[in-house]
Amino acid sequence: MEIEKVTTGIPGLDVMLKGGFEKQSIVLLSGDPGAGKTTIGLQYLFNGATKHGQPGVYISFEEPMDMLYKHAAHYGWDLKKLEQDKKFRIVDARSLKAETLFHADVGMTFDTIKSIGAKRVVIDSLTAYSLLFENAYKQRLALRELFESLRRLGCTTLMINEYSKHYSAHPLIDFLADELIMVYNRRIKNNRIRGVEIIKARGVDHVDKPAPLVFGKNGVEVFPENPLFDQF
Ligand SMILES: Nc1ncnc2c1ncn2[C@@H]1O[C@H](COP(=O)(O)OP(=O)(O)O)[C@@H](O)[C@H]1O
Ligand SMILES: [Mg+2]
Repeated sequence: MEIEKVTTGIPGLDVMLKGGFEKQSIVLLSGDPGAGKTTIGLQYLFNGATKHGQPGVYISFEEPMDMLYKHAAHYGWDLKKLEQDKKFRIVDARSLKAETLFHADVGMTFDTIKSIGAKRVVIDSLTAYSLLFENAYKQRLALRELFESLRRLGCTTLMINEYSKHYSAHPLIDFLADELIMVYNRRIKNNRIRGVEIIKARGVDHVDKPAPLVFGKNGVEVFPENPLFDQF
């Protein structure tokens, strides 16, 4: 059976993913600060809303709304227009309570997703969300529930994970996610190198060599034909 794909709208990344994310899957995008995770998230939603008739919701634990609007405007993405057209919403999750945020009955997040019939969701970041729980057990239960709810809603979800050598989100996440993508922002000698690598894509073919990632005028671009430096 042909697997249905959801294009990311990021040139090169869709090539690496052989068309895009698997429809209704949960993708973990993990990587260094400044690697391009937020930009990729916004680009994914903008592309879905403008080119594929798929409304999107951005759940932000990191940046306030006006920063996200500015971030997007830099690449020519008019998020406010998309909001007017009911194709996009931002949930400012910074001041909301962990217990109710994704609650099926009282949580505003799922109401927002349903209100515009969102097909694409970005959570930025899972790291920040996980920190709201007082212990690993509660964190684990909440994450499992969140994953199940998102699958039930039929959304294709991009979960952003702030990665550093010293800290990553709960290790369970790597197992729960259907696809795992790493982005890098490293200094090698006098150069700052950005790259992307697909670590796993459940049961589907993908390019597994890391490729350079570049910030262009219209967003992020990936170049799967160009090898990253040997250090990767
Ligand atoms: N046009 C650009 N050229 C080079 N670097 C850029 C450009 N636009 C943004 N950046 C850099 O990208 C980073 C921000 O990307 P972002 O998507 O917020 O990363 P993350 O969410 O992974 O921290 C910053 O370090 C910023 O300096
Ligand atoms: Mg970010």
